[in-house]
Amino acid sequence: MPIAERRLILKYADQPGYTPDIECYLKHGGYSVLKKALATEPATLKDEVKKSQLRGRGGAGFSCGLKWSFIDPAKNTKPVYLICNADESEPGTFKDRQIIHKDPHQLLEGMIISCFANNVHLAYIYIRGEFPTGAKILEQALAEARAKNFLGKNILGSGYDLDIFIHRGAGAYICGEETGLIESLEGKRPYPRIKPPYFPAVLGLYMCPTIVNNVETLCNVKHVIEMGGEAYAKIGKPNNTGTRILCVSGDVERPGYYEFEVGGLTLGQLIHEVCGGVKGGRKLKAVIPGGSSSKVLRADKRFKIKAKNAAGEMEEKELGLEDIPLDFDSLAAVGSMAGSGGVIVMDETRDMVEVLANISEFYAHESCGQCTPCREGVLWMKKLLHRINAGHCTTADVGVLNSVADNIAGRTICAFGEAASWPVQSFLANFRPDFEARAEKVRAA
Ligand SMILES: Cc1cc2nc3c(=O)[nH]c(=O)nc-3n(C[C@H](O)[C@H](O)[C@H](O)COP(=O)(O)O)c2cc1C
Ligand code: SF4
Repeated sequence: MPIAERRLILKYADQPGYTPDIECYLKHGGYSVLKKALATEPATLKDEVKKSQLRGRGGAGFSCGLKWSFIDPAKNTKPVYLICNADESEPGTFKDRQIIHKDPHQLLEGMIISCFANNVHLAYIYIRGEFPTGAKILEQALAEARAKNFLGKNILGSGYDLDIFIHRGAGAYICGEETGLIESLEGKRPYPRIKPPYFPAVLGLYMCPTIVNNVETLCNVKHVIEMGGEAYAKIGKPNNTGTRILCVSGDVERPGYYEFEVGGLTLGQLIHEVCGGVKGGRKLKAVIPGGSSSKVLRADKRFKIKAKNAAGEMEEKELGLEDIPLDFDSLAAVGSMAGSGGVIVMDETRDMVEVLANISEFYAHESCGQCTPCREGVLWMKKLLHRINAGHCTTADVGVLNSVADNIAGRTICAFGEAASWPVQSFLANFRPDFEARAEKVRAA
């Protein structure tokens, strides 16, 4: 029996006859949670989000309630902004687009509730330039919501005013990084800002306190308020609550997007039971579990993980790759991350040198160029990898590649430095002989 999905965010998205217009959304109970929220104290809403233990779905898995707690209405003299991050550029990730295309009002309802909770009167959806259809659908949804007074002045007679605008990016991955996004929204080149001092909650858009949340995170807020924080926290596991949309690509029989309780299944169950197994019945070689910047995990490796046993005590367990539960903490414990939910599966026929050379192309293209270790280093890694892949190298080049990656991570303005280095560091940690063999083979020929 295949494992059943638990669809919360995508509950209606793929149902026959479900359309993205407001009438369809209203027929399915849409905007009823907003009405409930508008009759609740904003501080209570924020409290529910805290109780829910909701973690961000954009990449870092940061607590949503904690992020919101940095915005203190009593201390704010400036306006507060909220930005929905719909840049979705991490290779292997294609979930936010599904929500936007199929259920845009769910996102708007989640956003309006989030804005009300944080005393926001102006919000933006920053959508990547390559999503013109999504932008059009959202424009239509915003017009419908305004016409029904779910947006605008005195929303549903509550005295609360809010408008939301769409801003289309021009097609740069770095615009997904929250401070690069803010610069871009201000009309500038998307150079990420240094943190500290430029934490968005303190000095964000127009130097005002700003909340940046991912599309899926904001949709979850609607469900938190609908069922209450404590009830929501019962879905999934403690500190890993709610559902997660997993985007599976690569060497599986049925790639696609699936929604499950966080940690409700293992990597092996996802690959074999949900996605129909490794393509062509071949053997699994490795998995990148959270988008291309997360560290690769090798199929024949054993991983040590600390988890609670039946008696509730912490104990160390040894797991194979396929036994790893798909939640934030377990993936971090084995040295990778849940990231943006993009699970990339590789079978035994994959040439890991070629895979990494391909990944390095992306990062070399997307560096914003603001800081030297990243600007020079990612290009250097790409050149080295193409040389190694072509066999025009010595084993010393593999060492140089490792050292370049080690000298980027932790020395840059934004986390792109880590995003570009982690694949290199982890591929070399797990598959170094493959890289060295390429050099040896050519020298022997
Ligand atoms: C290089 C880079 C690219 C990113 N791209 C995205 C993105 O496309 N979408 C996204 O939601 N978050 C992205 N993030 C994470 C954002 O900076 C930010 O943490 C996130 O939008 C916060 O939302 P959340 O707390 O709801 O996850 C990226 C981060 C980095 C460092
Ligand atoms: S780490 Fe890379 S992407 Fe980030 S600011 Fe520096 S150059 Fe730009």
